[in-house]
Amino acid sequence: MGRGDSEYFPADSPWHLRDGVPIGDATLDAASSSAASGCAGAVPVATVAPLPTARDCLVRIRGLSFSHGSRKIFDRVDLDLPRGAVTAVMGPSGTGKTTLLRLISGQLRPDAGTIEVDGEPVQSLGRAALYNLRRRMGMLFQSGALLTDLNVFDNVAYPLREHTDLNPALVRKLVLLKLEAVGLRGARDLMPSELSGGMARRVALARAIALDPMMILYDEPFTGQDPISMGVLVTLIRQLNDASHLTSIVVSHDVRETASIADFIYVIAGGRVMAQGTPVAITAERSAWVRQFMDGLPNGPVHFHYPAPALAADLLTRGLG
Ligand SMILES: Nc1ncnc2c1ncn2[C@@H]1O[C@H](COP(=O)(O)OP(=O)(O)OP(=O)(O)O)[C@@H](O)[C@H]1O
Ligand SMILES: [Mg+2]
Repeated sequence: MGRGDSEYFPADSPWHLRDGVPIGDATLDAASSSAASGCAGAVPVATVAPLPTARDCLVRIRGLSFSHGSRKIFDRVDLDLPRGAVTAVMGPSGTGKTTLLRLISGQLRPDAGTIEVDGEPVQSLGRAALYNLRRRMGMLFQSGALLTDLNVFDNVAYPLREHTDLNPALVRKLVLLKLEAVGLRGARDLMPSELSGGMARRVALARAIALDPMMILYDEPFTGQDPISMGVLVTLIRQLNDASHLTSIVVSHDVRETASIADFIYVIAGGRVMAQGTPVAITAERSAWVRQFMDGLPNGPVHFHYPAPALAADLLTRGLG
């Protein structure tokens, strides 16, 4: 655990640390143990439905540890993404959700552990193999903006033109089909500046599925959306997953929306999996930590403040930083 993590799990909380490991709730301790995982003969915790077997996992993560500098983000995490399912990864801000997606897509390398995607060990792939694997992953990243000088059609056509030798007539057909799938075929000539936030997100989604990926990684797909476009996106993610036989991972702290479309949920914090299970099971979970997160309560085991020295000491310290 990194500096100050005990601030997130104070000694009087059910999640204080022992040897760097949060303790206090037997059920969730088991959830964060290496035996508990979504696939492969696991002992799922807080789960009411049987989980897929090992061969049904598109992504299999074992013993993942990763630090940003001295800050430990993941500490021996196990996680599985069943093929064909929508798996949600939730957790408080700064807990490592975006980092997890970057590890799965090979943009970051783990310090320890393995990340298998469709049987390929992402952590040890060379550049060319990683490039090929990434082409099979659609990504809708938190900051994933459209190319502002290209219209909607050309934004969606971009990956097809960059990565394939398809002739223009076929590119056109594919782009129109992808735009149709997100309900924006009629908006093909608009520029990004003429789109609402929700429409832009859907165009980015059409671009993410342009190359017919086997999976889509969504990073906070609902952020900044009004309730209507949020509802549209929620439905779209589920429909695309099922109609195109995709596997989806949705990283979000929009608890209700994400839970409504997920088949399986992981809740992560403090570098560990804190709970895992179906939405029904997670919703029924009683531990203080999971309740605080799921119910959006300001007070509970998780602290609002990023770990820091005492305010008075900080204010009295000389210096400009
Ligand atoms: N490039 C980086 N260098 C150093 N630290 C980083 C870097 N990127 C992220 N971090 C740190 O790693 C931690 C996890 O960041 P990450 O972006 O994965 O969190 P998150 O769960 O996606 O948060 P949010 O919900 O706010 O998007 C944070 O404490 C962040 O400060
Ligand atoms: Mg993030």
